[in-house]
Amino acid sequence: MALQIFRTKHIFSHDNEDHVLKRCLSAWDLAFLGVGAIIGTGIFVLTGIAAATQSGPAVVLSFIIAGLACAFAALSYAELSSSVGGCGSAYGYSYAAFGELFAFIIGWDLLLEYGISVAAVANGWAGYFNNALTAIGLPLPDILTKAPKLGGLINLPASAIILMLMVLLIMGVKHSAKANNAMVFVKLITISIFIGVAVFNVNPDNWHPFMPFGWFQTLPDGKTTGVLAGASLVFFAYVGFDAVSTAAEEAQNPQRDLPFGIVTSLAFCTLIYIIVSGLLTGVVHYTDLNVSSPVAHSLTLLGYNWASALISTGVIAGLTTVMLVLYYGLTRIIFAMSRDGLLSSFFNKVNPKTQTPIRVIVLCGVIMALIAGFMPLGDLAELVNIGTLAAFVLVCLGVIVLRITKPDMKRPFRSPLSPLFPVLGMLSCTALMAFLPSLTWLRFVVWLVIGLTVYFGYSIHHSRLANTD
Ligand code: ALA
Repeated sequence: MALQIFRTKHIFSHDNEDHVLKRCLSAWDLAFLGVGAIIGTGIFVLTGIAAATQSGPAVVLSFIIAGLACAFAALSYAELSSSVGGCGSAYGYSYAAFGELFAFIIGWDLLLEYGISVAAVANGWAGYFNNALTAIGLPLPDILTKAPKLGGLINLPASAIILMLMVLLIMGVKHSAKANNAMVFVKLITISIFIGVAVFNVNPDNWHPFMPFGWFQTLPDGKTTGVLAGASLVFFAYVGFDAVSTAAEEAQNPQRDLPFGIVTSLAFCTLIYIIVSGLLTGVVHYTDLNVSSPVAHSLTLLGYNWASALISTGVIAGLTTVMLVLYYGLTRIIFAMSRDGLLSSFFNKVNPKTQTPIRVIVLCGVIMALIAGFMPLGDLAELVNIGTLAAFVLVCLGVIVLRITKPDMKRPFRSPLSPLFPVLGMLSCTALMAFLPSLTWLRFVVWLVIGLTVYFGYSIHHSRLANTD
């Protein structure tokens, strides 16, 4: 059994051919899926928080730094998705590269990434929703729109939207490529309206001072600030490109199209982020941006109320798809882990009537709704980031390990200059982790300790891999 934890698993073919999904997604569908999952709270909300409290107008540099770390990781994802395959994303790759224990740790990390992301995006959604309610003269009291740490009782809209999505997913709302493409279109229109208005209202004075908080410093309360700390926060804006790799079983030609989908969506979003963050800090002073709906707020400050209202509506629609994709991805990962025996089979029962995994959907929905209601956005985003960055580090390491242990494996896509790019990916993602506050580290370590307890208390005894010996 001791050896089992390091035994790798071959996952090129599907475990159960009876459950092969329809291969209907083209390369561009995958790229759109990526854009659908990527553009969300990060750019529409966190840009404001990061500019006001960590980076100042240099938030644009924070986006470039975080984007660079993601680019290295994305190339590693692209290589593994084209060669290792499987639908469990980084969880599946690590099963092939490192064996069960690491695969479990990555899977456990991904639960944190996807689960807390949904809660975090729900917070961003609630900010724009409250803004819209206020605009039509029906504001909710602070006590119902803020987490206790921010002076309220509960962020009710954030909890409520998750419970609504839970009901939709139970009813079997299928995430279809067409619906996603339409939503991506709405998001892009929203961004175009902002760019179209902002570009004529830039006041270069707003870009001074450019780096009011410097590169990096730790504050007496343990919080971090500066451009690098801002990069570790806005990294959240890029979370989701890895969700493309969870669609491996539905891609028409996964070996060719997954790398295209991952790299194209990331490159496109990076460009959008640089433009939007540059303009946002150019049209209003960065100190005005620490609000829950900064993009709409900036246009209100400029007097464009119609554009602000349009943007709020677009963001409310756009963020809903981000939550759906991530919520759906979360149930996928739990499924994969429970199919492998690493989590209880209780989680992979499908309700015969609705044909959906009701148990896992409800359990995740209730937990995420509670988290979204009681924890503020900034804390949630940092927790997501540390889990995701840790997964990225291991994915880059996976590329290096597999090049050594399986040199002859077919690799339709190869990360360039390997091992240089994977090593740079590991270094840059580790550095971004280092810039996160100590409290986030503590929470992350607690999460890992719980995970290891589950692994050694349950998974190691129920693993399908061990039982096939
Ligand atoms: N990248 C996604 C967002 O910013 C999670 O909302």
